[in-house]
Amino acid sequence: MSNPVPAAEGRIHEFTTQSGADTVEVGRKLAHLLKPPQLLVLRGELGTGKTTLVKGIAQALDAAEPDEVTSPTFTLVHEYDGTLDGRQVKLYHLDVYRLESERQLETLGLDELLTPEALVVVEWGEKFKSIRKKATGEIAIASAGGDARKITVTLRE
Ligand SMILES: Nc1ncnc2c1ncn2[C@@H]1O[C@H](COP(=O)(O)OP(=O)(O)OP(=O)(O)O)[C@@H](O)[C@H]1O
Ligand SMILES: [Mg+2]
Repeated sequence: MSNPVPAAEGRIHEFTTQSGADTVEVGRKLAHLLKPPQLLVLRGELGTGKTTLVKGIAQALDAAEPDEVTSPTFTLVHEYDGTLDGRQVKLYHLDVYRLESERQLETLGLDELLTPEALVVVEWGEKFKSIRKKATGEIAIASAGGDARKITVTLRE
């Protein structure tokens, strides 16, 4: 795993990982770059490691152990309670892969989740314009051959 590369105004962070365990570790580091409230689109092809990254975020927040974080493919939203820099945080992990319309998305009540203490991470969030508009950042995971992945985190502000 490489260290984050400081880029334009410090808002872009890049990591390269070689295994799932590496990506969990990136998730742990990344958690400390996130200041609630955040709505992050988590994008990347099927099976690139999006859920794996969230395992690290949850672990860093003392919200859940990696094996307790599973894909919200069918349940759509998983909620965890944690702390970040001594403050309470709510981690909401969503997967909207199976949702087909903005109307279906509305039933999730995304706006209600986005409280001041919330970190909302949405796998496949880029599919929906309403999510892209509200997003405060994006995490993109791209395959880089074999088990290697390039993870690019862009935080707005
Ligand atoms: N460098 C890597 N980073 C992340 N996962 C990796 C890496 N190398 C191998 N893997 C494996 O790839 C799989 C990624 O699965 P994961 O469920 O995290 O993907 P996902 O992007 O959430 O998929 P989906 O689109 O189906 O939700 C895991 O089994 C993980 O161990
Ligand atoms: Mg997933």
